[in-house]
Amino acid sequence: MAVKQSRRDFLGMAFGGVAAVGGVISLGAMKQTWDPLPSVQAAGFTTVDLSPLEDGELMTTQWRGKPIFVLKKSAEIKKNESRDVVVGNANYTVIVALCTHLGCIPTWAPSSKQFKCACHGGEFDASGINTFGPPPSPMVIPPFKIDGTKLVLGEEGPEYKKLVAKA
Ligand code: FES
Repeated sequence: MAVKQSRRDFLGMAFGGVAAVGGVISLGAMKQTWDPLPSVQAAGFTTVDLSPLEDGELMTTQWRGKPIFVLKKSAEIKKNESRDVVVGNANYTVIVALCTHLGCIPTWAPSSKQFKCACHGGEFDASGINTFGPPPSPMVIPPFKIDGTKLVLGEEGPEYKKLVAKA
């Protein structure tokens, strides 16, 4: 009788141990499945080196599938303390390049220093502020961080938080 009981105890403990190990392995596998792949994590950020940009030059890049305008302001372009990204001695406009009316991509008109939307005639100044037509609000400043001369889109750095607080 005593022998039967100890065998039953042993089997119970063995099954319990196997179940516990299986549970831990399953949890590890589930975590690996749910965590984003490193390539996906990296895809959430876009790094742009600002140093090659000339005064007055516009660069278009992409962040999370959205077009982004980066304009290095020249001396003739009005600065905007509450929207400019300042890196070194230069001021930049960094905006999601989508019109805030219905989402068309505006174009930069260097002669008038405006962003113009061909869809319904909307206009924005060089800082991305709506100045004419149906767009109801300025173009959006994406979250960013400054890293030396590089702009990292997708991360909320102290410079971004300062701009958002001023807006
Ligand atoms: S989508 Fe730009 S003005 Fe309508």
